[in-house]
Amino acid sequence: MKHLLSITDIQNDIVSIMKLSDKLKKDPWGYETLNKKVLAMIFEKASTRTRISFEVAMLQLGGQALYLSKTDLQLGRGEIIEDTAKVMSRYVDGVMIRAKEHHDVVEFAKNSKVPVINGLTNLEHPCQALTDIFTIYESKKAFDVHLTYLGDGNNVCNSLLLASSLVGMDMTVISPSGYQPDKDIVSQARKFAQSTGSQINITPDIQDVEGSDVIYTDVWVSMGDEAYKNQRLKDLKDYQVNSNILKLANHDAIVMHCLPAIRGQEITEEVINGDQSAVWDQAENRLHVQKAVLSKLLGES
Ligand code: CP
Ligand code: NVA
Repeated sequence: MKHLLSITDIQNDIVSIMKLSDKLKKDPWGYETLNKKVLAMIFEKASTRTRISFEVAMLQLGGQALYLSKTDLQLGRGEIIEDTAKVMSRYVDGVMIRAKEHHDVVEFAKNSKVPVINGLTNLEHPCQALTDIFTIYESKKAFDVHLTYLGDGNNVCNSLLLASSLVGMDMTVISPSGYQPDKDIVSQARKFAQSTGSQINITPDIQDVEGSDVIYTDVWVSMGDEAYKNQRLKDLKDYQVNSNILKLANHDAIVMHCLPAIRGQEITEEVINGDQSAVWDQAENRLHVQKAVLSKLLGES
């Protein structure tokens, strides 16, 4: 039995997940790999894409998903994670959790007899990063490309660093001091990069967008960072993905954003809806890639 708490948990399965995602995308209702299986989804934070794509994914695979808000569970009234995990494992075939603290998902998995999937924590968003490398491959037909992430070096950026280094993609993170990605994750990514031959570059210098095949950004105020909104908008204002930034990148560069987006902050309207935007395909691919992840994890449990 396998969990997906970090993208490193499935590092040897990335290629097969990409292939399966492609197959499932071509025939969305054609594979009932999870007939009569049930996925519980615990949300401690808001979600549009993760919630809907997991729910539809289970339906298309012949199973069912249960949406559980943390506040409606006894978990929200003080029942401990250990007890919740032990009990839920007896009802369902897998659990997806969106939690504030990464260590809570680790604790849940430790006590679960069924696979646990990280649907976003403060540290990582592995389902998003898997989708992103699938989307990049779909567009560029190769992993041998240069991905540049601009802005807040957050959970999404951390998982992208691990994903890109694992598949041999070069990645540059352009963030001001204080907003750079998690140091442990950067050193983990650099180790993977050594064996796959990719380059990992962390810099505050916007000019380093030059030579990018993919430009990626995410919100400047993540869920949980609302109290620091004004400071963040001030500190990150020079890191917006706009048409000037796009001019520095390769002419056929694509633009990605995990969404939700705040137009006028991390990205402009003309770029998110422009010809180079891959954002809507990227959002759609959450469904196809998660179907592959679910089939692998729950189908084999
Ligand atoms: N990208 C993403 O995870 O979106 P949601 O927060 O809407 O799930
Ligand atoms: N970094 C964002 C991602 C949302 C999908 C957040 O954590 O709120």
